[in-house]
Amino acid sequence: MNNLKQHRILLCIFSILIISCETHTQPVDEIETKVNELLTTMSLDEKIGQLNLRGTSSRVKGELPDSLKQAVRDGKIGAFLNVTNTAYVDELQRIAVEESPHKIPLIFARDVIHGYKTIFPIPLGIAASWDTEVAENSSRIAAIEASSFGIRWTFAPMLDIARDSRWGRIAESPGEDPFLAAKLSEAYIKGFQGKNLKDPTSMIACAKHFIGYGAAIGGRDYNTAIINDALLRNVYLPPFKTAVEAGSQTFMTAFNEMNGIPASGDKRLLTHILRDEYNFDGFVVSDWDSVKEMIPHGFAEDLKHAAEISLNAGLNMEMTSKTFETYTKTLLDEGKITISQIDKLVGDILRVKLKMGLFENPYREDKSSNLYATAHLEKAKEAVIKSSVLLKNNQNILPLAANTKLAVIGPLANQPREQLGTWTFDGDGKFTQTPIHTFQSKNVTFNYVEGLSHSRDKSAANFSKAMSVAKTSDVIIFIGGEEAILSGEAHSRADINLPGAQEDLIKELAKTGKPIVLIIMAGRPITVGNIINDVDAILMTWHPGTMGGPAIYDMIFGEDEPQGRLPVTWPKMAGQLPLFYNHKNTGRPVIPEEFVQLDSIPIGAWQSSLGNTSHYLDVGYLPQYPFGYGLGYTSFSYGKINLTDTIISENEELIVSVKVTNTGERAGSDIVQLYVQDVAGRITRPVKELKGFQKVTLQPNETKTIHFTLTIDDLKYYDNQQQLSVEKGTFNVWVGAHSATQNRATFKYE
Ligand code: BGC
Repeated sequence: MNNLKQHRILLCIFSILIISCETHTQPVDEIETKVNELLTTMSLDEKIGQLNLRGTSSRVKGELPDSLKQAVRDGKIGAFLNVTNTAYVDELQRIAVEESPHKIPLIFARDVIHGYKTIFPIPLGIAASWDTEVAENSSRIAAIEASSFGIRWTFAPMLDIARDSRWGRIAESPGEDPFLAAKLSEAYIKGFQGKNLKDPTSMIACAKHFIGYGAAIGGRDYNTAIINDALLRNVYLPPFKTAVEAGSQTFMTAFNEMNGIPASGDKRLLTHILRDEYNFDGFVVSDWDSVKEMIPHGFAEDLKHAAEISLNAGLNMEMTSKTFETYTKTLLDEGKITISQIDKLVGDILRVKLKMGLFENPYREDKSSNLYATAHLEKAKEAVIKSSVLLKNNQNILPLAANTKLAVIGPLANQPREQLGTWTFDGDGKFTQTPIHTFQSKNVTFNYVEGLSHSRDKSAANFSKAMSVAKTSDVIIFIGGEEAILSGEAHSRADINLPGAQEDLIKELAKTGKPIVLIIMAGRPITVGNIINDVDAILMTWHPGTMGGPAIYDMIFGEDEPQGRLPVTWPKMAGQLPLFYNHKNTGRPVIPEEFVQLDSIPIGAWQSSLGNTSHYLDVGYLPQYPFGYGLGYTSFSYGKINLTDTIISENEELIVSVKVTNTGERAGSDIVQLYVQDVAGRITRPVKELKGFQKVTLQPNETKTIHFTLTIDDLKYYDNQQQLSVEKGTFNVWVGAHSATQNRATFKYE
């Protein structure tokens, strides 16, 4: 008897046993019963079919190829990605559920990352809102729009902690902090999946990329990650753990290797951590070709070996490459994998399809009238306002008076496609509202000269036109940054200044003596050191999406204020990267008073310990702007920290309170942030770590007391033995408007 037959019989006996036992105890879970029923009758070909994610059909023009239809009819494909033609979606699904042997529905997937048609700010922008409602609304709306095209599975959220702004995919990340990322993770998943997976607008989420993709050395995409266990568990895993708790139905492996093991072949990650520890019961998909890429990684000898490694590691579904399809049978025959392993992998996929209700309701509901719905556009605009970060505002130049005469200059002032940002295959430039469209429709007094035709344009040919418009204005609004293609996958940059001749143009414009408001649209922090003194205000809108224009109008004319705070440390120079606020202290931390700048070293100085602390001689030790930073149109003062006690014991709570007062002249909001430092640990601890945040909105002169609750659990951390605990000792706590706040108190755990 071959392996397969033997296994089928065993499965039958097993299922009968469960059913007969459970009828006397508790009702059998319908989904598990159905999974087992299918597994006992499906052929091996069909099982292998479920493990295949096909990705080529979006390129199909005209009729669907017969070979593809036949493959679906034979049950040889489990899911598709990038099929956007709804007629194909309907036809393929019809074949699957009417003509395939077990009528197992397909799932259609797509990268719906920050909106489908209505495009929201890039995820790094959403992270800057520090607002879980913004994240949830954006993903709910994306799901409503995409599901009407039959897309019920999105490859989002990306939960890779990113500490290096050179990395192009920082645009798609939740930023550098695990606490903030975990909050966003939950919100995104709630939004994508909705309240009920069976709802036709529910789109199952995919927590990606598991894991360490954001730790690419030097910020070069796909690069090696070296992450020790403490760092893995304290920094990189938390948003993924939350994703399981929030019910994410799928995970995606990362392209990179971590500590020598490519993620798509890492059994410790895919089985021990994800399944055994986190109890994940959904399925894991590889990234695009990442199974076969284990060969160039130097981890698999050939395609068969790659399949063997990934299947044994616990990878359920292979994206685009075909090693599972080609080699699973041989691997079974050779005894390199067992049929019960395959059943487990297939069962995980079937379970998700059943939970989604696809067996009863496989077809999409055409709700295309929802696309670009007014309510969606309003939420998208709100998201831009909540995620834009005002970095500089000399003499409160912003907001501008309504009758200010503007010179609008810059390569991104009127670029409908570019302001959508990375991963926006489906956003239609025709619906984008650029700043220029909005200024026109609002009758703003302005003259517009592009100056540079795109963000990388190096030509000064149009500088003189820009200058003449600038000279006749009250204020120059320079809208620049990066085109969409300069960030995102495979688009890392070593120099993250404004590209092209943008700095030169700004310097030229500064000669007019007119105030300059720099509005940056970009997928990453942009180093502004060369022009920071030439501009009066800097407003970071990230790539703001469809509603960038109206939101920018509201912000610069004061109908609303920019409300975002940095989810990443903003460097002065790319040479400082990676740069993050929750770093370790070193044995020689910087002593500001003793910092020695490059130019103050005497010529001919002998080798000495001059400036012998951890810093750069040229650029110092501070970022341009710290994590958590952002201005609004009013000011706040923070009172001293009040603790319910200076000692906390096991099972006790410590309430940390601070009075926040609006000391300015308009209503406004701030994000009150709480950081903690464990002064001495069993392994060294970061200089501070975010442990709470709350948004407060106050009228002028209004004061509110903000309370945070800390417990011993909040202080626990993993060590190199992967133990989660905390030892008694001293802790610092800070509450303020950003990570560099000096508002500190101390308590002890006794
Ligand atoms: C990316 C994934 C994406 C996949 C499918 C890959 O190149 O790394 O994040 O989901 O393509 O488009």
